[in-house]
Amino acid sequence: MCGIIGYCGHRPAVPVILEGLRRLEYRGYDSAGVAFLQHGELHVVRAQGKLANLEKRLEGQNVFQATSGIGHTRWATHGLPIEKNAHPHTDGAKRLAVIHNGIIENYQEIKNELMAEGCAFASDTDTEVLAHLLARAIDKGLPTDQAMSETLGRVEGAYALAVVSLDTPGVIHAARKSSPLVLGVGVGENFLASDIPAFLPYTRDVVFLEDGEMVRIDAASWRVMDVATLAPIEKEIKHITWDVSAAQKGGFKHFMLKEIFEQPKVIADCLAGRVDVAAGRAVLPELAGLPTPERLFIVACGTSFHAGLWGMYLLEQWAGVPTRVEVASEFRYREPVLQPGDVVLAISQSGETADTLAGMRLARQRGAKVIGLCNVVGSSVARESDVVISTQAGPEISVASTKAMCSQLTVLTLLALCLGEATGKISRQDRIDCLTSLEKLPSVLEAELPRMRERAMDLAKTYSEVSSFLYLGRGPYYPLALEGALKLKEISYIHAEGYAAGEMKHGPIALIDPRFPTFALAPMDELFPKVKSNLEEVQARGGKIIALTHPGADMRVDHIWETPKAWGPLSTFLMLPALQMFAYEMADYLGKDVDQPRNLAKSVTVE
Ligand code: M6R
Repeated sequence: MCGIIGYCGHRPAVPVILEGLRRLEYRGYDSAGVAFLQHGELHVVRAQGKLANLEKRLEGQNVFQATSGIGHTRWATHGLPIEKNAHPHTDGAKRLAVIHNGIIENYQEIKNELMAEGCAFASDTDTEVLAHLLARAIDKGLPTDQAMSETLGRVEGAYALAVVSLDTPGVIHAARKSSPLVLGVGVGENFLASDIPAFLPYTRDVVFLEDGEMVRIDAASWRVMDVATLAPIEKEIKHITWDVSAAQKGGFKHFMLKEIFEQPKVIADCLAGRVDVAAGRAVLPELAGLPTPERLFIVACGTSFHAGLWGMYLLEQWAGVPTRVEVASEFRYREPVLQPGDVVLAISQSGETADTLAGMRLARQRGAKVIGLCNVVGSSVARESDVVISTQAGPEISVASTKAMCSQLTVLTLLALCLGEATGKISRQDRIDCLTSLEKLPSVLEAELPRMRERAMDLAKTYSEVSSFLYLGRGPYYPLALEGALKLKEISYIHAEGYAAGEMKHGPIALIDPRFPTFALAPMDELFPKVKSNLEEVQARGGKIIALTHPGADMRVDHIWETPKAWGPLSTFLMLPALQMFAYEMADYLGKDVDQPRNLAKSVTVE
């Protein structure tokens, strides 16, 4: 939700900021803006819509003198996505500018108070109160850091914010609470951003800021303080090992396509050092010292929730650990009964999803241990979990999650094997067979992906005029049906519903007609005959069917789509990319903005 960047250094700041915003645009793209000080004046330039509009607006303007400034790309929460609501926001006298990611929950109360005192507001956003509050504190004679402290002491909610001010030229003040903010430490230059790729071409040395911390940067120095007391805080600089190429398209038309094609490598990377096939052992040293959970609660959102649901089938079948999977936004607001011995597994690609974080905080308050399964190193989920298992998928830029889910499924498979060995529920031979098959997946998938893409392209053309799709699956393929439907709707805007195949006759069957096709997951496993008879029910009502299945499947449907068979539920790893590819090709064929679908943002850091 919203991307923020700040730069203080020796280069012209605006191009650095625009480049950073380009890398953050996945976080929101309703509008964008920059603020910088030049010739003793504060300049703010903003534009509605994508970053390209802001770039156009800056074209031909002399913006090359400023060597510090801030930039923002917005995902609207308060106020329409129009120019007056774009960040940065300024105080009335235009002495300072603020960018913000998050939500100021008590903004209306503060706004009313400020308006009663004669303050005029130029936008409908919650953020603008921060600019006015700060200016008032500075007007009282407070230095900027104290003004920040006083202002943030008044606001409730979540924020990562950065401020430039005429009072402190060449300096940026920033702070965080429940929204991500990282500091990039360079030579003669320093950066602030919502996410590391924003400044990765310039430095790999980063400092992860924690809630309640404030930072002051200029070109030559940085200082972290406690936002309430302004007491200095010692921070460790961490070196990032992945490089900028991991966050670029690498010749693919879209990040999503690139990320789908990266999945063989993702599986291989996830397995590296974690598999001892001869011993039939999955090795997750992170779990050392953590007793086998008596019950496991998996808490996640969106695609990560689907991964968790899939994991439940394996965890219960192989390890016998009672597992419950819940969307985090529900879990956090009910009264989950947690008892000693329970473990909560929080799954999140970004590690910053507000609901997932709230769910895991609640669990910890109630004495449960939390395992965080997450992709972004140093994220809030990673920092706040008792145990962190890194999914190691590398940066995922496309808003529609693909390779992250693949990595989550790989780790969940290893987790189920680990726990299964501990409980003795799964046999050694099954563990060996599973690990053997897992190790082969990267090469099998690598060979299959180009074929899969061609098939997806054909089917996308055939079904491009459809306005609704039903996805069906059973067992571990039911979560895949949910995921297939989510992928299709989020990037192609075609309505799609995922259903447990056996539930179809309890309602959705009423929708079936020749214009309402079904995408079925029909692997040749023990549930195949059941899925087959569900599909006959669809056919009997004139519904068209695409069936993702295995070679040799005995079924007559409109389109058979064969993918190679793997051991047990591991065929998932060869079917999931087909679902992703179908959604991708459909969206691309329809000319949709695949990587930045409307209304969505990559990381949902607000409720
Ligand atoms: O970063 P997280 O895994 O916590 O994100 C959860 C969801 O917001 C995310 O999976 C979302 O549903 C994606 N747009 C799915 O493609």
